[in-house]
Amino acid sequence: MNITTLPGLRLAEELPDGIDYLVVGTRLSSDQGTVYGLPDGIDTSALDLDLLAVGAEKRTTVGSITALGRLAGGSRVIAVGLGTGAPTPELLRRAAGSALRGIAAGVGAGDAVRVAVSLHEDAVIMPMSVFDSVRAVAEGALLGTYEPIHPVGEPAGARIAEIVVLDAYAEDHAAATRLAVAVSTAVARARDWVNTPANLLYPETFAAAVTEWFDGAPVAVGVRDEQQLAAEGFGGILAVGSGSAHAPRVVRAAYSPANATQKLVLVGKGMTFDAGGIDIKPAGHMMTMKCDMGGAAAVMAATRAIADLGLRVEVVAYAGMAENMPSGTAYRPSDVLTMHDGTTVEVTNTDAEGRLVLADCLSASTDDDADLVVDIATLTGACMRALGLNTIGLVASSDVVAGRLLHAAEASGETMWQLPLTDEARDKLHTPYADMASSGTDGYLGMQVAAAFLEHFAGERNWAHLDVAGPAWREGGAEGYLSVGGTGAGVRTLVELALTME
Ligand code: BES
Ligand code: MN
Ligand code: ZN
Repeated sequence: MNITTLPGLRLAEELPDGIDYLVVGTRLSSDQGTVYGLPDGIDTSALDLDLLAVGAEKRTTVGSITALGRLAGGSRVIAVGLGTGAPTPELLRRAAGSALRGIAAGVGAGDAVRVAVSLHEDAVIMPMSVFDSVRAVAEGALLGTYEPIHPVGEPAGARIAEIVVLDAYAEDHAAATRLAVAVSTAVARARDWVNTPANLLYPETFAAAVTEWFDGAPVAVGVRDEQQLAAEGFGGILAVGSGSAHAPRVVRAAYSPANATQKLVLVGKGMTFDAGGIDIKPAGHMMTMKCDMGGAAAVMAATRAIADLGLRVEVVAYAGMAENMPSGTAYRPSDVLTMHDGTTVEVTNTDAEGRLVLADCLSASTDDDADLVVDIATLTGACMRALGLNTIGLVASSDVVAGRLLHAAEASGETMWQLPLTDEARDKLHTPYADMASSGTDGYLGMQVAAAFLEHFAGERNWAHLDVAGPAWREGGAEGYLSVGGTGAGVRTLVELALTME
């Protein structure tokens, strides 16, 4: 299993020597394309700045790229569009991602070029703190270099060796780049795991990869194998994994800094492949189902970032890992399971497997005594139909909890929308044959019915459920800092949430 190494990143107050590309911004104001971010005191006489007068609209659309020529020292100058109006951190993140992606596309593997990025000016134009803009530019630039890994063979050499973010107050903003590097490294790792095909990444190898990921971090990692899961009564995850030659695992990773006042429990769905089980999926829906461990990838990636940043919040992350396959040993529709907490569940559709795995992990996390529990999962097609491919679905135990998640998403540049959990959804889980059915049968409120199921296992705790079925996987082409394939959805929100709990 190959993993990605992101370029190095640092801040500098002036353009260093030996920079191959300098990225600046363009905006449209009064029908004119204006450049900003050109560092003071450099000789720009050789640049073709008139280019921005012609077709200014096209050359200032967000993410568009225009080559402006070379500086006397040899650096090529690339202008990236920032649109009209005041940019947001997320817009800077996207623009920096587009710029780096464009540069990477024009150089060879192993070229190891050095890129300086200068995308902000004074606070009048950018109504955000320099700290936030530096952080956003750094994250966008780092993630813009990400290419889906080749899962076997030698990794290709780096196209981009180093990114230098130009910042007149560099010495004040070391923390911004520390955040950006930790978060981007975590997002890249989540993407790598999601992009790794399911013949290579299955519960045993995923658990080993997660354990290795925490090497050198102040995080205690434990892996429950199928015998331990059986001994402790994890009836949900064992049923889901029973059709596969690859037995399930539950990974628990605990970060316990001495000075924490709050405790966050994270639970991620780690379905390394979801064929649907006996209720098998049609072929057209199966190709992307290696992405069904995106929630587990997000919680484990975020936990390492939180530990690397030394945040003063306790985090306990659970990943429920299994493979949902049809076979002679697979669980069946109508089976009645006894879950980790003793609840009995009638399986109404074997393709509604994620909630069974999450439920056992939620139950197992009860002893952790959390202030807040967040689960994240590629859980329902219904969420994708309701909110599309770019928005994380949210259900929460209270509007106060929902507000915390929405705020964290907003601050991190991820898009999230809350759906209501009502008795209409809860009532669909009634069955005469067990305490609960695993899914509804009429096709309505699919995301909320799944949340209603999970709510039972979250109990009285402060709890939020994030459905990333849409945003965890991207098709149709890269854009900004998002590559095709795994996106690392949720990582940024979870780290941001931890920051608010310090
Ligand atoms: N992993 C899928 C949900 C999914 C679909 C994720 C598409 C990403 C892209 C989940 O396990 C599933 O199959 N959900 C079913 C539930 C239904 C049977 C109640 C669904 O949404 O159709
Ligand atoms: Mn499924
Ligand atoms: Zn699934």
